[in-house]
Amino acid sequence: MLVIIHSDENGVADYAYEFVRRKLEGSKNFVMGLASGGTILRLFRKMVDGFAGGELDFSNVHTFNLDEYVGLKPDHPQSYAYFMGVHLFGLVNLKEENIHFLSGVAESVEGHCHHYEKQIKEVGGIDLQILGIGRNGHIGFNEPTSSLASRTRMVTLTQDTILDNQRFFPGNEDVPRRALTMGVGTILEAKEVLLLATGPEKSQALAAMIEGPVTATCPASALQMHPSVTVVCDEAAAQRLIFTEYYDKVIDNEK
Ligand code: F6R
Repeated sequence: MLVIIHSDENGVADYAYEFVRRKLEGSKNFVMGLASGGTILRLFRKMVDGFAGGELDFSNVHTFNLDEYVGLKPDHPQSYAYFMGVHLFGLVNLKEENIHFLSGVAESVEGHCHHYEKQIKEVGGIDLQILGIGRNGHIGFNEPTSSLASRTRMVTLTQDTILDNQRFFPGNEDVPRRALTMGVGTILEAKEVLLLATGPEKSQALAAMIEGPVTATCPASALQMHPSVTVVCDEAAAQRLIFTEYYDKVIDNEK
């Protein structure tokens, strides 16, 4: 795991943007797994600017979003599909047929989740999975105690996640209690992972993920088993890490 610490969230977004830009440059067919939420939003803004400035081209990019709330249609303003449309998909030249999303209103949840996994396989797998991390160590909506081998499925959200996400909803009772999410096992099959974390509220989860044991109580810790993970975080999120000097040395040696 490569751990890169920037002083603030702008440094994190700049690094992530450059990372994505280099991956997209010259690639014929690129498959990205995407998260939604506050952390990744700063990267999306840079990606939109990069497209407007002629630096990024999404015409050969396929996307698969990690998760969606159960019960919300894609045109619901609090759905992740809507969020993605407003902040990225509607602002760049992604082809509609290349955008993949879990449906919060699928009739057969099991069949739908199975089909999503099949679609990922059909395009050759995810080249780059971009992740955020929950305060409780979730990735996607794989809450603590999720199986580290889990596949795309319906999950029950924890009280922590409901509280964290209520800022996007009119009231607490409006936050859906269940979601569909790619599984930890699905995420681990991505060829490469970039995880972004900013702010002091993520520091405990980040330390558990990077320096703690691999455990289902911190689903993000499963990334220790993945051969190609880059974590980019700000100092606030990194404040509980113990081996920061070592991480800096590794980066210096890579230059
Ligand atoms: C959402 C997702 C979640 C978020 C995480 C962090 O699609 O996959 O795992 O990445 O909850 O959310 P923010 O960035 O809003 O703190």
